[in-house]
Amino acid sequence: MHKVVIANWKMNFSLNEAIDFCNHFIESSKNTLIIASPSIYLSYLSQNFPNIIFASQDVSEESYDYGAFTGEISAKMLYDLGVKYSITGHSERRINQLETNHIVKRKAVNCIKNNITPIICVGETKNVRESGHHLEYIKKQIMESIPDSSSFILAYEPIWAIGTGNTPNREELIEVFSFIENVIAKDITLVYGGSVNLQTIDIIRTVNQINGIMLGKSSLDIVKLEQIIESL
Ligand code: PGA
Repeated sequence: MHKVVIANWKMNFSLNEAIDFCNHFIESSKNTLIIASPSIYLSYLSQNFPNIIFASQDVSEESYDYGAFTGEISAKMLYDLGVKYSITGHSERRINQLETNHIVKRKAVNCIKNNITPIICVGETKNVRESGHHLEYIKKQIMESIPDSSSFILAYEPIWAIGTGNTPNREELIEVFSFIENVIAKDITLVYGGSVNLQTIDIIRTVNQINGIMLGKSSLDIVKLEQIIESL
């Protein structure tokens, strides 16, 4: 089955490094790559690499196309650049920019209104996981963050797995992804993110409910990224 691979570059790469990366990228016939580049590079990259699918890492929660919102980038602006996806509610933004489920939902709604598919992120902290209440926690995040539509991707990214090298085991993945399928009850793409690399991919790809992956660190090395895309 065809799967999606979301390369979340976060706040990495100079423009020249980003261009170099895109110049070396070889399209896979097996799975689809989406590059979530820093927004400031999206204009240049989307014009110069029309064969690559780009995402933004964030979008304004304001529902206006234009207006007095200093520093904000609207979904309409992204759409006009040819951006097809936008990450919304990544845990780093939930933590550092204090984004609530309500804000994440507003962002997702703006994306859909502008023909951009939001990649809505959810996932529990280590404390919540250890308390055993992770399913309830994820359910609340999902119910409060998703729009009334099926035009979105849901990414489960446990915070304790991001950038740590720790990943859920196969049983834990099956538990959460089966639960998410039931909670959403719509036919949407479900993605796993958090320390996906050439080792951890072996377990992740055996879980049927997982239709794609989101990569942070592993998305910055083109050789590793291509190997992961091929092995998914
Ligand atoms: P990581 O990041 O692959 O470096 O753990 C994943 C993410 O934050 O989406």
